[in-house]
Amino acid sequence: MKEMIIETKVKVCHYDELSDADKKVVDAARAATANSYAIYSKFHVGAAVLLANGIVVSGSNQENAAYPSGLCAERTTLFWANSQYPNEAVKVLAIAACTGGRELDVPIPPCGACRQVILETENRYKTPMRIILYGVKECHIIEEGVKALLPLSFTSDFLE
Ligand code: THU
Repeated sequence: MKEMIIETKVKVCHYDELSDADKKVVDAARAATANSYAIYSKFHVGAAVLLANGIVVSGSNQENAAYPSGLCAERTTLFWANSQYPNEAVKVLAIAACTGGRELDVPIPPCGACRQVILETENRYKTPMRIILYGVKECHIIEEGVKALLPLSFTSDFLE
């Protein structure tokens, strides 16, 4: 029997080491946590994307009393960006979170459903995103796109 080994490269750095361009997207994600509607989990997530036209769009998680009707910050942001700017590829995605009035020391990664939506967006624009996960103590950067976070992924290729 053969084995497949799947590796994921994650760069770990401090916020101060990010480029000014990356800081701008990360700061937009951090600021967006303030607009989160998270009255049930009290877990406030912000996301921001840099589009090919240079515009930065942000969003946050929006919860609902019927829990599954809520939506994560990443999907809120991507769906908004893609509906407002359908011809602009998404180049960078940043994610930040805070709870109890404090930003998290260690970054949160996107959930599985968001990874699938990130993948669809990458394929739609034929552009892998740089994904930056913000934490106070360290940031994680995935340079090669969401395939690194969602190996063996299901795409429209299988539908043909
Ligand atoms: N959440 C996000 O917005 N993004 C993630 O990647 C993980 C979880 C939200 C969903 C829910 O509103 C809250 O965080 C707790 O799960």
